[in-house]
Amino acid sequence: MTVKVGILGGGFIGRVHALNLRKDARVHIVGIADIVPAVARRLAEEVETRAFQNLEDLLNAGAEAIYVCTPNVHHVEPVLQALAAGAHVFSEKPMATSLEGARKILEATKQAKGIYQLGFNRRFSNVYKFAKRLIDDGRIRPLLAQMKHNRGELQQPPWTGDPKVTGGYLYETPIHLFDMGRFLFGDVEEVVGWAKQSVYGELDGFVLLFRFRNGVIASITTVAHTSWLFPYERVEIYGEHQMIVTEELERAAFSPGPREEAEAIECLHMPFEEKWGYAEEDRLFIDAVLGERPPAVTAEDGYRATELVEAVYQAVRDGHPVRLPL
Ligand SMILES: NC(=O)c1ccc[n+]([C@@H]2O[C@H](COP(=O)([O-])OP(=O)(O)OC[C@H]3O[C@@H](n4cnc5c(N)ncnc54)[C@H](O)[C@@H]3O)[C@@H](O)[C@H]2O)c1
Repeated sequence: MTVKVGILGGGFIGRVHALNLRKDARVHIVGIADIVPAVARRLAEEVETRAFQNLEDLLNAGAEAIYVCTPNVHHVEPVLQALAAGAHVFSEKPMATSLEGARKILEATKQAKGIYQLGFNRRFSNVYKFAKRLIDDGRIRPLLAQMKHNRGELQQPPWTGDPKVTGGYLYETPIHLFDMGRFLFGDVEEVVGWAKQSVYGELDGFVLLFRFRNGVIASITTVAHTSWLFPYERVEIYGEHQMIVTEELERAAFSPGPREEAEAIECLHMPFEEKWGYAEEDRLFIDAVLGERPPAVTAEDGYRATELVEAVYQAVRDGHPVRLPL
């Protein structure tokens, strides 16, 4: 059976998904829609499909599944419209840029005929799958963690520096790390932290503490103006004389004990779309559309990540710890 897919937003990430989907024999891309016609035309030519301007065009062209790849504040409306039209939806992160928007999507997915999957791609990258497997297999019991996800700049694409379009820096980059915290350790119970506005017209540097319901405590650093010098993304998980380290999406290591040999994986030479988890999340989405498995990242995951962002903004604004759920 062929799944007819339409892609809304033909920029960087729309292209990544289009190129992946084109390699999947179960998929037929019915069109690329973008408010900038030249962008839609360019990508449509590259993946040999038709160029359109909006969501209605894609649905009229017979799209059964829609990829929402527009900038952050333009996710909720097309997602709700596509679900209401009975289509399946893959939405890029963030799910929404407010708790209200996230709640609307969560509610809509409960009534919808189509499935909803969110683009937290890091869950499918090898380094984080390595860490998750060690935790799930009981080879390490996480006690504390240190997590960092910086960003070199908020200049490319230009809208990433405009909080009216991103919803705020936390919705742009750190939301990946917040979701990773939930993926590895479960739900967060309390957040506290401090933030600075240094370079951009919004809070652009955060030092935070998360206390997870399972007892793990983690320090989180995320700064938006660090240049792209490695390491900009690193997670360290500490157990009982054990430790996991992930370095970017390039490599990870596990020390099973003070006098045991460490295990390591190296992803340096993997194709980009595999290393970053994009290829697998697209395969899993099509599996879910075909009813072979539930969506790999759910609306509930999206709602909880949104809630974490809102809790952190509240904590740094009010200067005291915030307990979840909000
Ligand atoms: N999961 C990831 O790792 C990852 C990576 C990059 C981007 N993203 C997310 O994907 C989304 C897009 O980011 P990008 O880097 O591809 O941005 P981009 O600027 O490269 O592309 C966005 C495209 O959407 C188009 N667009 C804007 N409003 C539209 C509308 N209303 N209807 C149709 N098209 C519209 C723009 O013309 C542009 O071509 C963002 O939400 C971003 O956070 C996720």
